[in-house]
Amino acid sequence: MKQTSGPDPAPEDPYLLGTDADERRRLETQHRLWAEWAHDLWDRAGFGPGDRLLDLGCGPGFASVELAERVGAGGRVLAVDESARFIGALAREAGRRGLAQLTARVERVETLRLEAGSLDGAFARWLFCFLPEPLAVIERMVSGLRPGGRLVVWDYLNYFATALHPRSPAFDRVLAAVYESWRRTGGDLNVGERLPGVIAKSGCRVLDLVPLARFARPGTALWLWPTGFFFGYVPKLVEAGLLTEAERESFEAEWREREQDPGAFLSAPPMVGIIAEKR
Ligand SMILES: C[S@@+](CC[C@H](N)C(=O)[O-])C[C@H]1O[C@@H](n2cnc3c(N)ncnc32)[C@H](O)[C@@H]1O
Repeated sequence: MKQTSGPDPAPEDPYLLGTDADERRRLETQHRLWAEWAHDLWDRAGFGPGDRLLDLGCGPGFASVELAERVGAGGRVLAVDESARFIGALAREAGRRGLAQLTARVERVETLRLEAGSLDGAFARWLFCFLPEPLAVIERMVSGLRPGGRLVVWDYLNYFATALHPRSPAFDRVLAAVYESWRRTGGDLNVGERLPGVIAKSGCRVLDLVPLARFARPGTALWLWPTGFFFGYVPKLVEAGLLTEAERESFEAEWREREQDPGAFLSAPPMVGIIAEKR
């Protein structure tokens, strides 16, 4: 396992959701709840033993580790993130697991440097919603792919299709505030609507679009995903002035009420998985 630093490491914690232990745990739970879907996309893209792959915006690298296990000792995975803290944690984890095929690098994706044609595949999950200019970053990813190499990108689309049932006006206000907080930092929680077009412009043929939409019911493992996110993020929205303290209290009360309602469920934020091939 190697850990390297790219040309332009960012100051620690530029990432909207932070890089502390709580966010690391949230990303771990999120990965566990969606791992089956990730493996399905990787299967569809044909990622397998011996492949040279990129995991861009890898965070603490829960997917990177599984990609490294998938490609095996004869393959290679380059995991890139701007957070030195996340990359350090990934380096230690890969060392513990003896994954010599995994290299973790601190680098901003906007300045990503890849050797042309050096990759069989590239993956980015929950990254593009944070980026103001997806096309420039997709082009950098694609430059590293060999012709016929595959791109797998997974992100949010149609964020306002997220809904708590029975409907909760307080939750709808929270959704609007979350969406606005992303927009203020140049991100877009509907970026998935644009990504297939952006990818098509980058010299790739879009092969498949996979819907990633689920219902979460109180008391199930998936319920932990929105609960962890909203209970962690809503206080930050109050600090940022995007919600009032009273709105936070109404949201928490309505969420807890729904948890006692046997008919309640959440239409989780819909996402899209895109599989494309470099021409
Ligand atoms: C929601 S996390 C997703 C992590 C991982 N892809 C996963 O699926 O668990 C988003 C990650 O993107 C990284 N990120 C956001 N903007 C970035 C940028 N401009 N350059 C490099 N990394 C970035 C953050 O540091 C964070 O680790």
